Amino acid sequence: MSEKYKKIKQIYEGKAKKLYTLQGHPNLLLQEFKDDATAFNAQKRGSILNKGIINCELTTYIFTYLGKKGVKNHFVEQISPNEMIIKRLKIVPIEVVVRNIAAGSLLKKTNFKEGHRLARPIVEFYYKDDALGDPMISDSHALAMKIATEKDLNTLRQMAEKINSLIKPFFLKRGLKLVDFKLEFGKDSSGKIMLGDEITPDTCRLWDKKTNRKLDKDRFRFDLGGVNEAYAEVRKRILGK
Ligand code: TMP
Ligand code: ASP
Repeated sequence: MSEKYKKIKQIYEGKAKKLYTLQGHPNLLLQEFKDDATAFNAQKRGSILNKGIINCELTTYIFTYLGKKGVKNHFVEQISPNEMIIKRLKIVPIEVVVRNIAAGSLLKKTNFKEGHRLARPIVEFYYKDDALGDPMISDSHALAMKIATEKDLNTLRQMAEKINSLIKPFFLKRGLKLVDFKLEFGKDSSGKIMLGDEITPDTCRLWDKKTNRKLDKDRFRFDLGGVNEAYAEVRKRILGK
């Protein structure tokens, strides 16, 4: 634990991360990444070797990259292998999914076969609510529930498209196809929307450029084996270690 930041109390424990408040820093939080892995709304549970460290390092690297490219995000600094300081955001309860290649739940909504390259990226909104199982929603659902304004929804879509246009080539340069991914956003103390959460093999589908081997959490979700190795491989390709 760094000298600069002293934890006060845990305010949240999710499936993959914990959040703590910090003494003397009301607008910041400490985000700790866990090795725990869950799938299908936590019906399946397990853990992935060094996932906390790998996901903290990858999020640090990718959010720093996005920040330099003008994407406002919550990352402040990494303070230990699996802990980072972030800006405290009021989370918008919408998960934004961007898809470049057909996979996962898109195969149940369309006739696309897995691996079909989409003519243009698809952006989807899901209502972040465990009890409802995070259902997909339209703009009108979000507006009726008053969880976001029309302007917020347009900002989410524009930011998600910009992030996709930056990280798709970022991953490809490192031998990884960015199939799809999930983003979360929040508002800072001035009401500005910024990217939060994480960008990791938990939240992205990443396939090897040449072989299409799955190098992400789908190996855990669907018992494909080689889960630890896939996370280690993504770490090596992006962080060189
Ligand atoms: P899906 O195809 O199951 O809808 O998933 C789309 C993307 O979102 C995929 O990259 C995995 C990610 N994702 C999460 O990060 N959290 C979740 O709870 C789910 C269901 C998907
Ligand atoms: N993390 C999510 C859960 O446990 C689902 C997933 O990533 O597939 O519910």
